[in-house]
Amino acid sequence: MLKGLILSGGKGTRLRPITYTSAKQLIPIANKPVLFYGIEALVECGIKEIGIVVGHTKDEVMESAGDGSKWGVRFTYIYQPEPLGLAHAVMISEDFIKDSPFVMYLGDNLILGGIKSLVEEFKRSNANSFILLAKVKDPRQFGVAELKNGKVIRLEEKPREPKSDLALVGVYIFDKNIFKAVKEIKPSWRNELEITDAIQWLVSHGYDVRPHIVKGWWKDTGKLEDLLEANRMVLDSFEVEVVNKGKIDSSSDVQFKVLIEEEAEIKNSIIRGPAIIGKRTKVINSYIGPFTSVHDDVLIENCEIEHSIILSGSRILNIPGRITDSLIGKNVSITSTEEKSPKAHKFLLGDHSKVVIK
Ligand code: DAU
Repeated sequence: MLKGLILSGGKGTRLRPITYTSAKQLIPIANKPVLFYGIEALVECGIKEIGIVVGHTKDEVMESAGDGSKWGVRFTYIYQPEPLGLAHAVMISEDFIKDSPFVMYLGDNLILGGIKSLVEEFKRSNANSFILLAKVKDPRQFGVAELKNGKVIRLEEKPREPKSDLALVGVYIFDKNIFKAVKEIKPSWRNELEITDAIQWLVSHGYDVRPHIVKGWWKDTGKLEDLLEANRMVLDSFEVEVVNKGKIDSSSDVQFKVLIEEEAEIKNSIIRGPAIIGKRTKVINSYIGPFTSVHDDVLIENCEIEHSIILSGSRILNIPGRITDSLIGKNVSITSTEEKSPKAHKFLLGDHSKVVIK
């Protein structure tokens, strides 16, 4: 029986300060944690046993994902005290995986359209591994594969001079031979045991590693721009026109792929989708533009916001100008006062916060 392994440890340094207090895999895309998209992709393939590798944010991840019963499957949490690399995560999961082939899914990756047909194809094949590849603009930030006559000949993690534009997507299928590979490789220049090196070991030792080019849409959500783009793609894939489970008053105008959750209130406001407004959130005298996800219990009053992700419990009041391309954390307060002079900005910002005033 095929098992699943989701990697939800790591540091999330590129998303600080959000990741000082939260796991990057729990940042919501269209109000659902990134991690859940991965879980759902595995569940859709009929996988019942899923291991989740967790690091210092383990409590938060475990509380949010639970024991798997929400999806009718069983989760086993595997604790990785230090993020020593993707191949290290595989190594410590051997007791859970045992002899089964397994799908490994990086918890910050998102593939629209799922992986079901690929998993079916792997089951029918006698390959040792399937790897997924996608053409990217800047391959230097990824593992990169070099192919010849449709076969993998070389793999390199974050190369300075990439040999191709084919990046390794964060979904892999392995059989038990990967455990030999992860034990043979040495840490890389960034002191991690790289899964890319382990796959290279398989290739060099004559194992059957088959490449599959991803045709649909894929995103590694490790950076702000990628998160916003993922949010845009998922919201845009909504097939609904307007679904209103909350309240919209008669002076509001809500149009095009908008989901208003339970007990949300829209007063004297314009909402142009694709957008989602979370539970109990209030939008008053405001404009919410396309590609915006507002989570639960948020208050937005006298503001214009678009192409942004606002996490739960935040208050954004009386802001002149438009807020755009932003990720706003939990329980953040952004307000402006009535005081006329002197004109000044007041901030209380955590380490690594970013504010751009134009
Ligand atoms: O997104 C695809 C890329 O993912 C591939 O092209 C690269 O070959 C692969 O190495 C990986 O690169 P990243 O540098 O983006 O990996 P990151 O450190 O972001 O980790 C990916 C996921 O695995 C993330 O959810 C955190 C988790 N993780 C990471 C490490 C290093 C762990 O659970 N344990 C770890 O030790």
